[in-house]
Amino acid sequence: MTRVLGIETTCDETSAAIVELDSKREQPTLLGQIVLSQIAAHRPFGGVVPEIACRSHVESLTAVIEETLKSAKVSAREIDAIAVAAKPGLIGSLLVGVSTAKALAWSWNKPLVAVDHIEAHLRAPLLSGANLQPPHLGAVFSGGHTELYWVESEQKQQLGATQDDAIGEAFDKVATILGLPYPGGPQIEQLAREGDPSVVDLPRTLLGRDSLDFSLSGLKTAVLYKLRGQDAKSPKPLAGAPKIADLAAAFQTAVADVVVEKLKRAIRQTNCSRLVFGGGVMANRYLRERIESALTGFCRQRGLGEVELAFPSLEFSTDNGAMIALYGAEEFLAGRTAELDLEPVAT
Ligand code: KG4
Ligand code: ZN
Repeated sequence: MTRVLGIETTCDETSAAIVELDSKREQPTLLGQIVLSQIAAHRPFGGVVPEIACRSHVESLTAVIEETLKSAKVSAREIDAIAVAAKPGLIGSLLVGVSTAKALAWSWNKPLVAVDHIEAHLRAPLLSGANLQPPHLGAVFSGGHTELYWVESEQKQQLGATQDDAIGEAFDKVATILGLPYPGGPQIEQLAREGDPSVVDLPRTLLGRDSLDFSLSGLKTAVLYKLRGQDAKSPKPLAGAPKIADLAAAFQTAVADVVVEKLKRAIRQTNCSRLVFGGGVMANRYLRERIESALTGFCRQRGLGEVELAFPSLEFSTDNGAMIALYGAEEFLAGRTAELDLEPVAT
């Protein structure tokens, strides 16, 4: 058994976790995890303020690691390696995590493992027992990333990405337009339950016929115009503007329509019916249900058998230390470690 401490500070969650992994890299056990969200600190500004994020990581990371060790009932001696999310993310935030991980690796005399945050999102469903055997399609939908991958053995190839806003970013910006607090994703999901999506007509940007790229900024702007009663020049909502709940529901439906279409295209192009999902937006239950119901029939009709969908559990959808520890343990077992001159990379 290999025990790895994972450290996550790429954006606005300060998190640490300890994961135990067997040598076949099949059955991870989460021994302990602390996730400290900075939402309250960023909310007055309507989004993540990089300077506040890195200062908050500095203030709390050491205590978060100590509490994680305590809750896992594991001592520093019993850790085999220290994994840290070293890219991509906000550079100041990354620096706090990477510097702390390097200091611990040096003082505890443990190997250091550099983790790609996006790769880690795609491993998160394993924490809930999902089958992630390649080949499969991979989709990361988060606040900073909207990416589709083809994953074959340990290699992965990017099939598509957003040309403008990431999906989570679009949720957050639309929430701001609708006057909802940060982070917008959960707010829109909740409000959409009371809304009727059919009363507001919004565009679905699908780009070229076979394109697996995304573009969400037009949809976001369309929400703004609808809120202003179609008049782009008016600074305030006009009489007759749609209800906020209807706009939220129409936006969420349009996003789900685009996601479902892109996933169908990816399945058509690869003939693969196994899909792995990761990222904060996957906490959206409506989106999960739409994906599930659309792809079940689609894969059957195409003779691909039962679709296999690996979703992260809700707690492992948004940023967390467990996925970093898990991917770090896999990397460590594969013999990939980093040197103490490791530098974080923002993109
Ligand atoms: O993966 P994550 O925690 O951080 C990044 O790596 O970016 O994702 C955060 C994003 C935010 O944009 C947030 O609004 C979105 O995930 N999100 C959601 C939901 N919960 C979080 N989006 C839609 N529906 C949700 N329920
Ligand atoms: Zn993330």
